Amino acid sequence: MRPANDSHDSAPHKPNWKMIAGLWPYLAEYRGRALLAMAMLVVAKIATVATPIALKYIIDNLEQHRGVDMLLWTPLLLVLAYGTLRFGSTLFSELRDAIFARVAERAMRRVSLRVFQHLHNRELAFHLDRKTGGLARDIERGTNGISFLLRFTLFNILPTLLEIVLVAGILLVAFNVSYVLAIAVSVVVFVVFSIRVTEWRTTFVREANHQDNQSNARAIDSLLNYETVKYFNNETFEAQQYDEKLKLWEAARLKNRLSMAALNTGQAFIIGVSLIVIMGMAVREVASGQMTLGDFTMVNAYLIQLFIPLNNLGFVYREIRQALVNVERLFALLGDKPLIEDAADASALALHAGAVQFSDVRFSYNAQRPILKGVSFSIPAGQTVAVVGASGAGKSTLARLLFRFFDVDSGSICIDGQDLRHITQDSLRSTIGVVPQDTVLFNDTLYNNLAYGRPNASAAEVEHAAQQANLTDFINSLPEGYDTPVGERGLKLSGGEKQRVAIARVLLKNPPILILDEATSSLDTISEQAILVALNAVSQQRTTLVIAHRLSTVRDAHRILVMDQGQIVESGSHHELLEKHGYYAKLWQQQQQDI
Ligand SMILES: Nc1ncnc2c1ncn2[C@@H]1O[C@H](COP(=O)(O)OP(=O)(O)OP(=O)(O)O)[C@@H](O)[C@H]1O
Ligand SMILES: [Mg+2]
Repeated sequence: MRPANDSHDSAPHKPNWKMIAGLWPYLAEYRGRALLAMAMLVVAKIATVATPIALKYIIDNLEQHRGVDMLLWTPLLLVLAYGTLRFGSTLFSELRDAIFARVAERAMRRVSLRVFQHLHNRELAFHLDRKTGGLARDIERGTNGISFLLRFTLFNILPTLLEIVLVAGILLVAFNVSYVLAIAVSVVVFVVFSIRVTEWRTTFVREANHQDNQSNARAIDSLLNYETVKYFNNETFEAQQYDEKLKLWEAARLKNRLSMAALNTGQAFIIGVSLIVIMGMAVREVASGQMTLGDFTMVNAYLIQLFIPLNNLGFVYREIRQALVNVERLFALLGDKPLIEDAADASALALHAGAVQFSDVRFSYNAQRPILKGVSFSIPAGQTVAVVGASGAGKSTLARLLFRFFDVDSGSICIDGQDLRHITQDSLRSTIGVVPQDTVLFNDTLYNNLAYGRPNASAAEVEHAAQQANLTDFINSLPEGYDTPVGERGLKLSGGEKQRVAIARVLLKNPPILILDEATSSLDTISEQAILVALNAVSQQRTTLVIAHRLSTVRDAHRILVMDQGQIVESGSHHELLEKHGYYAKLWQQQQQDI
């Protein structure tokens, strides 16, 4: 039914060059800066290309006048020009980088934020499927990739091409076609070789990334389950599992390295051969007097100067390919549309009294396994309806559907006559307060976790909510009081304390509709009674859906629904149900005996 977010690479084999176009919006924000940086780049390149010419004139000038009583100022001036050009070429390159830095950094910030928001917009099913470790790596690599693409496509590929054209032009004017041809041939061979080999290597890059995700996901999952690992003495097993993943990662990285070595060697070989051939041509011409020594030095300088960026180009091309692969995954992540989305014509929920209506709701998490098989009931405005029944019957699923974490397969859920699918999620969710079955807290202080229910609440309001949730004694007993850190996922609190934090949060949110999913299941009877008084007071004027195993906590509900295997099998008030002598009555009997 829903696509799994396995980190497995389903991306097409070829990187998508169109992705570069996707970077335009990030560039457009700073169009002026980008253009200025481009101008710096052109100046820097002109300086670079002019340097060997200056060198040639210095040598020729010295050569002509050697031994002759000469004026030194011409060659000295030329040396000055030569030095200035060298410095200029570096200066303008650095200026270019400095000017462009802001564009690239801002793009990274923008895209990180976008990904973050997008992930929060994704439906619950996506997050249940995700592997946090792998996802984090994808995001990290993708944002770095974007910065790389911006900096290097603009400032490396394009300028290198520009430089090649300039140098070819100069050689054509200064010497003859054979040099241009020789250089053209070696450049083409070099580029074709680099592209081919890099293409071949892309598979290894993808594979290495994939294995990196896998091993990282495994490590994070294992650490999150620290306690479970210890309960079963499975440290060695965990280490083995992790090492299995690392082994694959190692192999992938190794292939990556070896193929890179092959690429580098091949490139160096092509450069070496080209140098030999072209310099050989020049040697002959100098010997026969067709070329001056200055010309010879200039050809040499150009060759070296050309092959450095060209060599760089090989590196950059391969990095760009890699960045494209990374960005591709990031964009794929961004491109996935949330399964739960506001309808185009969705309007905010117009809340009157908060009556909830489930009509013949059918739902499954996986198409093969129906969970809810035609559930209909209503909660009249301001009333409390309780749902009881066997574990796995689908009780929490009702709550998730009402909160629209999932859409129903058929049937409908309405609040005050408005189908959930036709109202905005934001307005829906601000109306409903949930105390979930398992509470997870932020790795922050107790106070901040409480205040999360309404971030702009005053300290007095937060404390009042904590008091209603019977937390005051506990908090007062803490050396750090409200400032106590609760640990990752709230693991430093007891189950009952976490539940009370969850209740206090919801009291603070103060929503018109309440869902309490086993809200007091982890509490002792005395705390439970205390909180039930508070919760009952709160649910008095509110539409409330209570889910509970302990029937004593729901006997006062207006109506009780008994669920079994995705269906409502009995319903009525506590007394009506007892008189039916059915499932509920039996359950009640049993629980009374247990006490
Ligand atoms: N995300 C999911 N993907 C697939 N199946 C799920 C998912 N969430 C729940 N289920 C299945 O749906 C069924 C109903 O789950 P639900 O959480 O609604 O049960 P419940 O009635 O609340 O049980 P309990 O009393 O134990 O909390 C269970 O069999 C569960 O395995
Ligand atoms: Mg449940």
